[in-house]
Order: sequence, then structure tokens, then C-alpha cells
Amino acid sequence: MNVAYPQSDFVSPQHTVEGFIKLVQDGFENPERRRGTVRVTVQDYPQLGFRARFADELLVDRPEGDYDADTEIKFPISTLELIFREFDIVDWRSPEIIGSTELAGDQSLAFLLAFSCLRPSDWTLQRFASVERLHRDRGYRNGVEVQRLNAPSQYQLLEAMEDSRPVIVSGLEPSPPCRDWSLERLEAEYGDVVVCMRSASDHVTMRQFVDELRTFENTPTKAGSSLEFKAYTEGSGLPDEMWANFGPMYFDAEDFVPPQLWLGSVATGVPATPLHRDPLTGFLFQVVGRKRLDLYSADQADLLYPYKSYNNYQKCWFQPDRPDHDRYPKAREAKCISVELHPGELLVQPAGWFHQVYALDSPTMSVSYFWRY
Ligand SMILES: [Fe+2]
Repeated sequence: MNVAYPQSDFVSPQHTVEGFIKLVQDGFENPERRRGTVRVTVQDYPQLGFRARFADELLVDRPEGDYDADTEIKFPISTLELIFREFDIVDWRSPEIIGSTELAGDQSLAFLLAFSCLRPSDWTLQRFASVERLHRDRGYRNGVEVQRLNAPSQYQLLEAMEDSRPVIVSGLEPSPPCRDWSLERLEAEYGDVVVCMRSASDHVTMRQFVDELRTFENTPTKAGSSLEFKAYTEGSGLPDEMWANFGPMYFDAEDFVPPQLWLGSVATGVPATPLHRDPLTGFLFQVVGRKRLDLYSADQADLLYPYKSYNNYQKCWFQPDRPDHDRYPKAREAKCISVELHPGELLVQPAGWFHQVYALDSPTMSVSYFWRY
């Protein structure tokens, strides 16, 4: 894997674009055998634009004259430099990237290209490898009990984390106040607070967002339609004003990366978050509605077809909600552990566990934190 990809000193725009193309081609995977054509335009340097065609490999050329494309992507050269320089941490949803990129046509092809640019850091690779070893040694793929602990001590949590065992914490009431949250209470307490939507360019107040959620909830055709059309913050930053009620538990705020907010209306029959794993231990605090998480131990990586190219989290090609066992035959053997999280409960999910998340109720709200260590 391309962890030690040579860094560019960006001697010229051409050098940047050629390096970017190599990054995308080396990281390209196409098990779904998608076909299509993407026109990539480099703003200010039209001669450096290129055509990318999906085959078993990614074919890149610069044809003479015009051609049809399914997807159009326009970047300034500075965005390509950013991706090329920071492929191990870059987030496509960050304002620097999403705000500078123009996208039209079939977005799914653009997303596949976007993942092809990413690479895990050495640290992430080592973390996944050591967790996989531990799970294999303990036989976790044959099942592990997810305990529900009532108001455990920090020590108990550390023990579970050391064993890489997920646990559900209950009995956290009344501090922090984790019962009886509703759209009305969110509106009353945080009406003027600014909530960032995932696209980062979208900022609305909690009052506006709650209004939107009500409309959404009252329009069943919207609520049941698709993941693309949803009123969901999808892990945007938790507003500072909400820290007092939903701030980190058990450890200091400094021990966590900034918390994320998952608030919105989602279809309950499809995953709110598709199957993936994170290199850090996650704390998921459930506030409104119930959630179900389907967990797969890390020693089942060989059965779940994880992406080759990723950085901050690793998605899987296999989708348990739409199982394609002809394409992904080994997934037949994968065993999952389903856990249900209720309002006021906290799931501590050690690094490396694959998971797929369903909202069982809509609207839903959770706050998540990643432990830094
Ligand atoms: Fe996750």
C-alpha cells in the first residue's frame, strides 16, 4: 500500500496534476464493475484537465476535441495540491475541498474517485493490524458478549477497552442530563445555536433545523425516500454551546477529538452509516430515539472486503443490508453482533470494530467522541 508515497514539492502545476493522477490510479478499485466517464477540469490550467474512464482499472487520457462525460469535476490547482499533500488526513467534506470543488452529473463516480486518492497513515495500518491480531488470538469472530454496565467506573471501561470489548453504559442519569430530549427541548435550549450541516457550507440555527426536521417527518415520501435526500447533520461538529449537556464523559475533553453531532430525520430501514471501521475508540452517546449497531470483529476483515484506499475510516465494499454474495462470497461466513442503544446510553466501541449503524427511530440524535489513544 502506498503509505510512503513520495511527497511532492509541487515544482509545477503539471507535476501536481500528474502526481494526483498517479495517486488516483494506484488507489482505484472497481469490484462493482462500474462504468462511466469523468471529465476533470483544472481551473486556470485547462490544458492539464483529463478524462478518467472506469474500467477494471482507471484509464486516464487527454483526448483531442470534445467528448461526453457522465460526471464533471472542476478543481483549482490549490485543491489538487492539498489532496496530494494530505492524502492521509484529507476530508472531502472539509470546507477547503467541498467549497472549492464544482461537481455535476453522476456523483457516485466522483465519490469513487475521491476514495481512490486517500491513503492510511502508518499509524492507522499498525492499529488495525494489532487489533486484528488481538481479536484473532481471543477468537472474537466466534462471538463476544457486549456487556451492559450500569454506571461503571473509569477503570471498568479501561479494562474493556484494553480487551477491545465493546460495552454499553447505562445508568448515567442525572448527570449529564441525558433523558427526555426532544425536538421541542432542543429548540427551546439551543434555538439560536448555529448547527453546521455536513457539507460545511450549510449553516442553520437549531430552530431552522428543527423546523426542517418537522417538515421532513410530516412528509413520509421524503422520509422514506433515499439517503441522498435527508435532513441529517451526519457527524458535523457539536456546537460549543451544547458541550455543557453533551460534553465528554469518563475522560477529559482533551482526551477526545472534537465531538460530532448526528441529528436528523433518517429512513429507518437503511443504514444511516454504512459498514466501516475507525482507527480510534468511539464513544457514542444516544440522546433521541434508538439506534442499532451491527458490529463485526476486526479479525473478520478478510470477509468484509474493506476498501484498499482510505484514511480516517475504512469503508467496506460488502454491504450487509444489500448482501451480494456472488460478488463477495466470503461475507457469507461473517458473523455480526447487533446491539441496541437507547436514549441515555453510551456505547464504547474499541478501535477497529467494523460497524453499520441504523436509526430505529426518526428523528434521531447521538453525540460521538473519539478517544485520542
Ligand atoms: Fe464509525
